[in-house]
Amino acid sequence: MGFLILQAWLTVFASCLSATSWSNFHPRNNSQSQTKFLPIGIATGQAPSSSTGKVRSFELVPSTPFATLDYGTEVAGYPFFEVSSMRGKVQIEVKYGEAFQALSNNFSDGPYPFAIGLSNTYRVETFDVTTPGIFESFFLQGGQRWQSIRLLTPGSITFASVGLRPSIPVVDIDNLPGQFECDNNKLNDIWKLGAKAVNVACLEQGTQPELWQVNQTGAFIRGMRSGVSDQGAFLENYTLEFDARIERGGLGWVVAHPLASPASGIQLNLVGELPPETRFVNTNTSLTPPNSILLGYGYSIVNQTTLNSYLLDTFQIPFPVQEKTWYRVTTVLTGGEYLAVSISGIQIFNATLSSFYIGGSAIPTRGSFGFGGWQDQSGTVKNVLVYDTLNSSTLYSNPMTDKAQVLAEYGVHQNYESVCLDGPKRDRLIWLGDLYHTSRIVGTSTSRLDLIKGTLNSLLSWQTPDGLFPYDAAMGYNSSLAYQAFTNGGGGARFGIEVYKVVLPDYQILGLLSFTDYVSTSNDLDFVRETWPHWKLQTNWILDQINATTGLLSLLGAFLGPASGGSVVNCAFVQALNMVADIAAAIDDTDAVTKYQNAAITLAATINKSLWNSKLGVYSLSLASPDDYSVSSCAFCITSGTANATQASSFLAAIQSLKLGPGYKDSTQANSSDPSTNISPNTNGFFLAALMAQGTAAAAATSLELLQTLWGAMLVDNETKTGASWEYLNVAGAPGLGLYTSLSHPWGGAPTYLLTEWVAGLQAAAGAKGFGYGSWVVNPTLGVAMGLGKARATVMTAFSGSLEVAWSVVNASTLQVQINAPARTSGVFEMAGFKKVLTGGTEYHLLVPV
Ligand SMILES: *[C@@H]1O[C@H](CO)[C@@H](O)[C@H](O)[C@H]1NC(C)=O
Ligand SMILES: *[C@@H]1O[C@H](CO)[C@@H](O)[C@H](O)[C@H]1NC(C)=O
Ligand SMILES: *[C@@H]1O[C@H](CO)[C@@H](O)[C@H](O)[C@H]1NC(C)=O
Ligand SMILES: *[C@@H]1O[C@H](CO)[C@@H](O)[C@H](O)[C@H]1NC(C)=O
Ligand SMILES: *[C@@H]1O[C@H](CO)[C@@H](O)[C@H](O)[C@H]1NC(C)=O
Ligand SMILES: *[C@@H]1O[C@H](CO)[C@@H](O)[C@H](O)[C@H]1NC(C)=O
Ligand SMILES: *[C@@H]1O[C@H](CO)[C@@H](O)[C@H](O)[C@H]1NC(C)=O
Ligand SMILES: *[C@@H]1O[C@H](CO)[C@@H](O)[C@H](O)[C@H]1NC(C)=O
Ligand SMILES: *[C@@H]1O[C@H](CO)[C@@H](O)[C@H](O)[C@H]1NC(C)=O
Ligand SMILES: *[C@@H]1O[C@H](CO)[C@@H](O)[C@H](O)[C@H]1NC(C)=O
Ligand SMILES: *[C@@H]1O[C@H](CO)[C@@H](O)[C@H](O)[C@H]1NC(C)=O
Ligand SMILES: *[C@@H]1O[C@H](CO)[C@@H](O)[C@H](O)[C@H]1NC(C)=O
Repeated sequence: MGFLILQAWLTVFASCLSATSWSNFHPRNNSQSQTKFLPIGIATGQAPSSSTGKVRSFELVPSTPFATLDYGTEVAGYPFFEVSSMRGKVQIEVKYGEAFQALSNNFSDGPYPFAIGLSNTYRVETFDVTTPGIFESFFLQGGQRWQSIRLLTPGSITFASVGLRPSIPVVDIDNLPGQFECDNNKLNDIWKLGAKAVNVACLEQGTQPELWQVNQTGAFIRGMRSGVSDQGAFLENYTLEFDARIERGGLGWVVAHPLASPASGIQLNLVGELPPETRFVNTNTSLTPPNSILLGYGYSIVNQTTLNSYLLDTFQIPFPVQEKTWYRVTTVLTGGEYLAVSISGIQIFNATLSSFYIGGSAIPTRGSFGFGGWQDQSGTVKNVLVYDTLNSSTLYSNPMTDKAQVLAEYGVHQNYESVCLDGPKRDRLIWLGDLYHTSRIVGTSTSRLDLIKGTLNSLLSWQTPDGLFPYDAAMGYNSSLAYQAFTNGGGGARFGIEVYKVVLPDYQILGLLSFTDYVSTSNDLDFVRETWPHWKLQTNWILDQINATTGLLSLLGAFLGPASGGSVVNCAFVQALNMVADIAAAIDDTDAVTKYQNAAITLAATINKSLWNSKLGVYSLSLASPDDYSVSSCAFCITSGTANATQASSFLAAIQSLKLGPGYKDSTQANSSDPSTNISPNTNGFFLAALMAQGTAAAAATSLELLQTLWGAMLVDNETKTGASWEYLNVAGAPGLGLYTSLSHPWGGAPTYLLTEWVAGLQAAAGAKGFGYGSWVVNPTLGVAMGLGKARATVMTAFSGSLEVAWSVVNASTLQVQINAPARTSGVFEMAGFKKVLTGGTEYHLLVPV
């Protein structure tokens, strides 16, 4: 997820590090620091090359200045460099990218200024290497497969090794607690895509460390997307003053910058005199000329895909701005119209904001302030003072010397909780709706249910009194301190009401389903009992959005489809209500069971009455678009049980008209000839669940084809495959959205749980008795119909041990099945009319006629 969604609703509402030591090493204590990620291939030459060879010590000299490092699959951590020898002056430019092609791009596949991601905003960084030894980047890189090192200077340098100190759990993807294997290797690799994606996107508490170093000198801030104060969200017409000391290059700050995404605001950058002793030779002086102030608006000062940024003006400072020297920087916002900056009392400019073009609208002047900087810059900030421009009354003051206080206020604190993000590289936020696939993938692969629980706890800490959760919670803000600012839109001028009611409110439904999936995998009823009132509150809020006239949800926005009277949000809610009722049953809240079951029955009946289009054999996209339909609606109307068997098969047949490129386009309203039409593995993943559940030969053939064309596309290109599932594909089957695309996105990894559930055929039984696989079902109908000769799958249960099924077709007419299950569980084997209850043992053998 990310800006595509945001754009959709917006249209509705209108390092510098002196090499040599490990001194910048983050103090941490976990198993992750014991392993390294090392490249599997290295190439040296005059340009990046994807034809890498053996890993070895390598030398860069001016005639061979480039090294390309291939990590083979997606990895994340702190880049480290072990230099065995060097000669002369050595500066190196290092790039990080998910796709190989990024290495040929000026900014690689970055920058990522969308949010504070507790990682390096930039995908390019420069090092001045002065002595042999090991050095490490201060910032972690959130996700990459490829890396390049370019020698910028006439000297030479030899690396004994280069790699990453992990910032993610180090696991062997071939030996996870949850497993799947069959005699189709492509399916085996497809299963791993989601497992890999959740492995890199789900992070342990405290492993993404603070971004600023704060002590009595002030806050030492390396170039990054600004950290923004949670105290200034609703300020306007204010003056911001602070003491600034450039440590290297320059420093950046923002004003009138909202906290909650989309968070773009007024960008400012002070560039120092760039003295030859400290200037990196690759400093882009056309972008950041010496002794200047840059004025920008947007996410950054350069464009990144559709994260629009405007470099509005560059003002020359009429005196040299020295490094390691304190200056008082004053930024004055007056009357919603003027912006002036002075340095130590000398006004550099006073600009009329309406004179700048930012794509049509006016530059908003409300919002908070914060500090960061451009690539390779660093500076120290202290004594921040904010006062009313007109009457000088103090609004805020902070010496910036209290580490714990500053880190929390500016959202640059280490991750408070274990959290699953949208992706390791980009949109490093807890996207509520996208957890849907994540929690199910974790349940059948890494089994790191603790990380899902952490994510749910984090969401709970932000819940509003109405019951709503944030659509994309940040991991570095303290929820009890930043709650007001985020809940009220973070200062963006756009909203008069609680923002979560307006932005992606359908994510509340998918978030609720993530909770129910967590419970159904973990059987964590203690967690349910502790937090139950909060989930009921949320469920009841959604119920309250049912429109008395139509009997269908009328939301104020939706990612999945039409917000008002739309079939997908309503069917998804039927599914959630039934699952919440199962949880209520598990803790004996009988009133809630009745209430939610009845609500589900009524809502499903209304959907069938008002949205079933019998002429087309589909559920209408919405009341307002009766002849349109979507893949997500097909998915949720089937998986929720709203559709009967006849409806399911006719809708599935109709969806074939949406086939486009490697998969299905989202709906009949998506324009197939628009080159920006992206194929979403997220929505196709919802759809695949409904398709596979049919268990017919036709469904098996269509599923196999979709798996091969859509998910198979993520495996074929040596330069783009990361071993993880992707965010979007274009119609040619290449990554969608260009280099910006996340090539490691759990929302694209549905096959991981679907192959386990429907191809190996290993499922939890329906209802509360199936929680934690206490009761299970083995039904390999679809896998056999796909023509597979054998398959096996393993999942962790909540009942001391794993549950494993292995089957194979012997002499073409018999299925040989073995099931190993914890003694405290029982289940049933079902296939094509054959049914056998399996109980009382730990190992079952069956021979079933096919
Ligand atoms: C690191 O963790 C281990 C095991 O939890 C503990 O025994 C050790 O004291 C910790 N070390 C530090 C420096 O905190
Ligand atoms: C594909 O990638 C592997 C390493 O990931 C590398 O060894 C090989 O040379 C590459 N092949 C091609 C054709 O680029
Ligand atoms: C990359 O940077 C160089 C040097 O600043 C510039 O000439 C070139 O146009 C840039 N390329 C792109 C695609 O912006
Ligand atoms: C404060 O932090 C900065 C940046 O880490 C460091 O260079 C400086 O030595 C520290 N000062 C004190 C007094 O600890
Ligand atoms: C330098 O900055 C300009 C914008 O002023 C940008 O177009 C160009 O790509 C940058 N070059 C490099 C090498 O980053
Ligand atoms: C970013 O793109 C917009 C729209 O094309 C353009 O107006 C703006 O000048 C660009 N910004 C930069 C910094 O190049
Ligand atoms: C800021 O100034 C503008 C123009 O005078 C005014 O409309 C607005 O109300 C002011 N905002 C605050 C919070 O004073
Ligand atoms: C900037 O100019 C405007 C219009 O002349 C004026 O009202 C405002 O006070 C000026 N700001 C500063 C800080 O001088
Ligand atoms: C200063 O102006 C602000 C905004 O108009 C107002 O809220 C505040 O009460 C004023 N303070 C004084 C001391 O006049
Ligand atoms: C958040 O801040 C509050 C108030 O300062 C504090 O009590 C709480 O412990 C902080 N939360 C965390 C998780 O550190
Ligand atoms: C309820 O539905 C009716 C009929 O479509 C519509 O006119 C009305 O605006 C809806 N109410 C809300 C609160 O959305
Ligand atoms: C399925 O639903 C359709 C539409 O409501 C209805 O016409 C049909 O009779 C139902 N079929 C079964 C088997 O219930």
